[in-house]
Parts: sequence; C-alpha cells; structure tokens
Amino acid sequence: MSGGQAYRIAVLAGDGIGPEVTGAARVVLDAVAARHDRQFTYEVGLVGGAAYDETGEPLPAATLELCRRSDAVLFGAIGGPKWEKVPVARRPESGLLALRQALGLFANLRPVRPLPALVAASPLKPEIVEGVDLLVVRELTGGIYFGEPRRRWTEAGARRAVDTLPYGEGEISRVVRLACELASGRRGRVSSVDKANVLDTSRLWREVATEIGAEYPAITLDHVLVDACAMYLITDPRRFDVIVTENLFGDILTDEAAVLVGSLGVLPSASLNGKAPDYAGARGQQFGLYEPIHGSAPDIAGQDRANPLGAILSAALLLRLSLGLDEEARTIERAVDVALASGLRTGDIAATGTRTVGTKELGEAIAAQIAVA
Ligand code: IPM
Ligand code: MG
Repeated sequence: MSGGQAYRIAVLAGDGIGPEVTGAARVVLDAVAARHDRQFTYEVGLVGGAAYDETGEPLPAATLELCRRSDAVLFGAIGGPKWEKVPVARRPESGLLALRQALGLFANLRPVRPLPALVAASPLKPEIVEGVDLLVVRELTGGIYFGEPRRRWTEAGARRAVDTLPYGEGEISRVVRLACELASGRRGRVSSVDKANVLDTSRLWREVATEIGAEYPAITLDHVLVDACAMYLITDPRRFDVIVTENLFGDILTDEAAVLVGSLGVLPSASLNGKAPDYAGARGQQFGLYEPIHGSAPDIAGQDRANPLGAILSAALLLRLSLGLDEEARTIERAVDVALASGLRTGDIAATGTRTVGTKELGEAIAAQIAVA
C-alpha cells in the first residue's frame, strides 16, 4: 500500500489519437506513482465525439461533475470528420469549449522550450531555436470563441455569417495579472499581444494591460502587434519571456510556436481558473485541466503513430501545478529527455530514414526510465 492521500485524476481521452496519448500518459503516471510512493486514482469520462455518439451530448453532465470532484483533469483531444455534419452546439469542439467555460478555466499556459535533443527536429535554424524559453498565456474563456451574436443566415439569396469578439476589462485584467505573476518567477518580461491598430477590443486590452503592468514595477511590459509577433516568433523567439494574449490570437500563435520545438505533438498545456501557480513547486495547488495542444489527428488515429510527448508533458504539468508534486513532475521531464537522448522518436520528430517508435513504445520507454531513475 502506498503512503499518503490518493489524488483523483479525471481522464477525458476524447477522440482520434486522444485515447492513445492519454493512455501513454497514464502508463507514465503509474511509473511515477510506484517510484515516488504516490497514489493516483483515475476516473474516465466521456467528452467530444465519443460522448456525442454515446449520449447525444459532447459534454454530458456526468463528465462535468466528474471534473468538479477531481483534483485535476487529463484531457486528450476531440473532433474528427465523423462529426462534421453535427449541428454546431453538439459538435465535439463545443464540448471542450463548454468544459473550459463551465470550469472557469480562463488562463491557458503553453510553455515552449525546445527539448535539447529535438533542436534538429525543428525546420528552423538551430541558432534561432536554441535557448528559447517562453510561456504563452492564452485567455481561454472569452473573445470570439464565445461572443454573441454568432450565426449564419441567407440574405437576398446570399449566405452570410457573423461572429462577435467581445472583451471586458475584468477578463483582461485577471489574465494579464496572472501573466505578470508568472513572469515574476521567470525573466520578468511580459509581451502583451494585440491588434490595437485596428480592433477596439485590442485597444481596451492594451489600456488594461498597461494599468495592470504598472502594478508590477519589477516587470517590463511591452505591447506587440499580433502580426509582428507571428514574425518574431520564428525570427527572434528568444526576445520573448511571457506572452499574454486573447483567445484566438493565442490559439494561432501557439500552433506556430510548436515549430520551435519540432512538432505540434510535443507541446503541453495547463488551463487554470485561479491564481498564478507557484512554479517553484510549493504545495497547496489548484484545480486545472491539462491537455496537449495538438488536435485529434484522425488521419493517424488508432495506428500507434501519435506522439505522446504533449500528453506526457501535460501530465508533468498536472503533477506540478494541481497536485504540488514538483519533484515527480521533474522525474517525468528528465525521463523524457533521457528517452529522446537515447534516440527514441515518433514519426513526426524523426529525421527521414531513421527508425521510429510507436506511441506505446515511447510511453513505455519513458515509464521504464522512471522506474530505474
Ligand atoms: C486548442 C484547439 C481548440 C481551440 C479546438 C480544438 C477547439 O485548437 O486547444 O488549441 O481552438 O481552442
Ligand atoms: Mg489550437
């Protein structure tokens, strides 16, 4: 019997490669539990297309309740061509958005730090990628993802559609404050990204960000237009420490940032609903939902080809930020480095012509490394 309390982890695997990558993450978490004498209990819930098929809803009430009584949520991925014709409100993506909103997960942290062994996996020159260590804080429960009105109609025989991009100062200030607090434990720089030369919401964003920045004299806050940010991310990414931005810009910029680490499959994320977590690893943590930033990749689903690193590194963030198990989180991160250094690669990060391993084998190799570490 292992000592201490059991931590309750809700596992929402979702669709496509979701079950495979969360499966690999669980194998790794089990290895951590054994190595560090911890107890994790997993309870699985339906979400996305899988939930729609079973219950007619992409976010069944039982799943939301499960999340609410858990210490943290490990999330896989949702969506796929199978549900393209389903009405918008019941599509898999709507389930994830409803989950983020229902749990109040307003801040999505996406750390981008190229793993040493993967510098060559990026199509960018090593001198651009080496030494990059940035954190994108994406606003997650506001903006155009949720704004009303949103609809589609036909007018004079022509199709029209509208989406709405609203932001209120409370939504802006809480996420910028969190970014400033996170930057205090890092290099003390916050880049607030907007499109203030065109959008009113961005002008408000910039105004509020400036006010919040003034509350943190030790933080250097600057403002970067989103189009310029898109360029700097791949020409001069080391200029960034913490980037804070609205929902849609953050979605787009983080797929771009994935180029720095070699593959979308590698990036983890943490979605939080409260104060800034203590990266130094203090205990007493907060609820969060942890998911790789990649999608459900239906083209490779069920083939044991998906890269599990995004999910495995998300599990490490879960341990650190929600369970306060920093040493255990480090154990995972070190094991990932060792596995990569020993040459293990899934197809997305392997050099052409080199041997690749499957999702399972990579997860098991990392778990085995944890067992002997
Ligand atoms: C992400 C994804 C989601 C988003 C989709 C699947 C709804 O792209 O987490 O980045 O747009 O937020
Ligand atoms: Mg995205």
